[in-house]
Amino acid sequence: MDRVRKDIENIGKIGKDPNGGVSRPALSEADIEARMYVMREMEEAGLKVYVDQGGNIIGIKEGEINEPFITTGSHIDTVLNGGIFDGVVGVVGGLETIRLINENKIKNKFPIALIVFTDEEGNSFTPFAGSKYFAGLLKKDELHTIEGKYENIKFGDALKRFFEKSKAKVIEKFPYSIKNHFELHVEQGPILEKEGKDIGIVLGIVGVLRIWANLEGKQSHAGTTPMNMRSDPSIPLAKTILKVREIAKKDIVGTLSYINVFPNVVNVIPGSIKLGIDIRSLDKTELEELEKQISKYIEDESEKEKVKANISSYIEDPVLCAEENIKTIEKSVNELGYSYIKMPSRAVHDSQIMSRITKIGMIFVPSKNGISHAPDEWTDWNYIYKGVNVLYNTLKIITEAKNNKL
Ligand code: GLV
Ligand code: MN
Ligand code: MN
Repeated sequence: MDRVRKDIENIGKIGKDPNGGVSRPALSEADIEARMYVMREMEEAGLKVYVDQGGNIIGIKEGEINEPFITTGSHIDTVLNGGIFDGVVGVVGGLETIRLINENKIKNKFPIALIVFTDEEGNSFTPFAGSKYFAGLLKKDELHTIEGKYENIKFGDALKRFFEKSKAKVIEKFPYSIKNHFELHVEQGPILEKEGKDIGIVLGIVGVLRIWANLEGKQSHAGTTPMNMRSDPSIPLAKTILKVREIAKKDIVGTLSYINVFPNVVNVIPGSIKLGIDIRSLDKTELEELEKQISKYIEDESEKEKVKANISSYIEDPVLCAEENIKTIEKSVNELGYSYIKMPSRAVHDSQIMSRITKIGMIFVPSKNGISHAPDEWTDWNYIYKGVNVLYNTLKIITEAKNNKL
């Protein structure tokens, strides 16, 4: 397990942010360096390594039969100034699982693929870029022409940069069927710590509603423009911030987390403001209702200020983990004698997208003080090791040749 800690620490050193955390937006220089590290380790572990046109890294361990595959993996891109565990634990956990399968001479019936998905966080191009391409929800042309948010570069050009460096075989797309997909991840919330449990077996993943609005007002002098002659987009912005707070309740969380003010100087009434809202619930109809309600609220409040509101939104559906996978993980945890609870995930994950093409299962380990997407994101090594053991044992149960009569 020293290897797990070493890998997480080594990857965590790549993309250090002056603000104390780690910034590794997908396909940035730092992300590519981290990708190279992971690819070297994958090869070292005997995997055949490919990259696809979504930038996903796919390490393959052959099985007794050609397909279907068992897949596992997560992401190594981070939010800006994030922590060292989010995503990385699932990738490094998958790597260690492959090493343990090799060392313990487990004969796997099903082939296994360890996948590193591109831009899960969407801080570079778009959330779940890689997993959406993998699952066929984003076409190559669509994906490759997306403009970068972090760098002024199209996805396709950033990908070329990576391909040139990696020299791995480029495939169009993963061509095989997948029987089950498992992802190990830090909880990123406070529940496991509060309950004093080692492991969370995930029942389902929260849905997310994102609303983006461009509020176009009239840029003007902050001193000379009378109060009744203004079109100030900061007024509907301020009201919307409070509105989002007001609609959040026990099972819904809402944040107005993105604000971009133009020109953002103190003696000028803003000409325009772009805002972004993130709302999460396990109930899709609730998200659909809120989508309408909040969009209308922004429009109405903008109109009162003679501000034009251009609104776009989308919902990533909540999904359930497969009963069959929940049972296998539970068996795995019980065999190891660890404590656990079953729980929903309130963060989103690549597995959400993988659920479109296969049966998913997720394993959580506790997050210290429930903190994530921040420099002080932390999980004690002891829990990380337990999580890796659960992933290894789960894959062993599901793929070991002697257990499979099929
Ligand atoms: C990803 O980590 C998310 O939950 O936004
Ligand atoms: Mn994240
Ligand atoms: Mn993550």
